[in-house]
Amino acid sequence: MYSEKVMDHFQNPRNVGEIENASGMGTVGNAKCGDIMRIYLDIDENQIIRDVKFKTFGCGAAVATSSMATELVMGKTVQEAMTVTNKAVAEALDGLPPVKMHCSLLAEEAIHAALWDYATKNNLTIEGLEKPKSDIGEEEEEEDY
Ligand code: FES
Repeated sequence: MYSEKVMDHFQNPRNVGEIENASGMGTVGNAKCGDIMRIYLDIDENQIIRDVKFKTFGCGAAVATSSMATELVMGKTVQEAMTVTNKAVAEALDGLPPVKMHCSLLAEEAIHAALWDYATKNNLTIEGLEKPKSDIGEEEEEEDY
């Protein structure tokens, strides 16, 4: 059911942890399954992501997608990080079962929420970035994936 890459990232997740005084932090959750994902970004003065960490309380696919998402955004500029969509994460993992695609969406949303936090703190605009709708602490939405 799962690709070898998914199993690898689930069993040996990369970049687990926290970043103190992160440049941006985003926490998102899926109201249906109750899974929660938090991403921390350390961004330098050239808007390059020099470190990224995550914590996920969720299913195996959520752990694997957050792990892969951190690897994909590491070293990228904040604008390039926008190309790390849920599709890109799923593809990098050699695919996810259809019922697990929403887990990769959580990874994309967590990155966007962290980028949003960074942009807001620094008064910046990141092209294509929208205010995260499912950031925890704001309204809980019922979403269909
Ligand atoms: Fe909820 Fe995977 S089942 S994120």
